[in-house]
Amino acid sequence: AYKAAIFDLDGVITDTAPFHFKAWKKLADELGIRFTEEDNEQLKGVDRMESLERLLALGEHRYSDEEKQAMAADKNAYYQQLIEQLTAEDILPGVMPLLDQLAKNSVKLAIASASRNARTILNGLQLTDRFDYIADPTYARSKPAPDIFLYAAYGVKVHPTQCIAFEDSIAGLQAIKDCSMFAVSVGHDDLRRYSDAHVHRLDELLT
Ligand code: BG6
Ligand code: MG
Repeated sequence: AYKAAIFDLDGVITDTAPFHFKAWKKLADELGIRFTEEDNEQLKGVDRMESLERLLALGEHRYSDEEKQAMAADKNAYYQQLIEQLTAEDILPGVMPLLDQLAKNSVKLAIASASRNARTILNGLQLTDRFDYIADPTYARSKPAPDIFLYAAYGVKVHPTQCIAFEDSIAGLQAIKDCSMFAVSVGHDDLRRYSDAHVHRLDELLT
């Protein structure tokens, strides 16, 4: 049996993609760049600066590092306003019973999110206390590097091979496989080929 369960946050515990979309779209509109929901879909699991790079690559103009820093800060300020509205009601179906079941079986619980807003989001969802460890992405290379999952495992003192991890992004699933954890993909069927097991939603796991 697994000794730790490691969760991605955005798209697994709660659906923040519409907020990211709204915030990136506002920036794209200001810059005259066409940015669609499909474009946003490609940014799942991708960290803030890399997401910005990909958005800017959809336009013609090139920007300086200073300009990019300012754009990322603006996007984040707007995103932070949007996620203020998160409450426990925004926790995705199946998450609470799954966390309860795992905790009851003494499985350690950790978060491995690329988001620097992870703590704010968990606080809004009133979930902070449910996790034994929240890995800090500040000094981790971004997914698909395995860093953030390794930090999470280290944080709960469980060897990676004894961890099960849940992800909704391809980059995240690659990170999980790269550190030999059992990977569960959550969401689209196309994720199946990157994972060891697949569910559309976490509530499918409940018996
Ligand atoms: C990931 C999201 O969890 O966090 C990405 O899937 C996002 O879309 C990334 O870009 C970084 O988030 P933040 O909050 O640090 O800008
Ligand atoms: Mg995600």
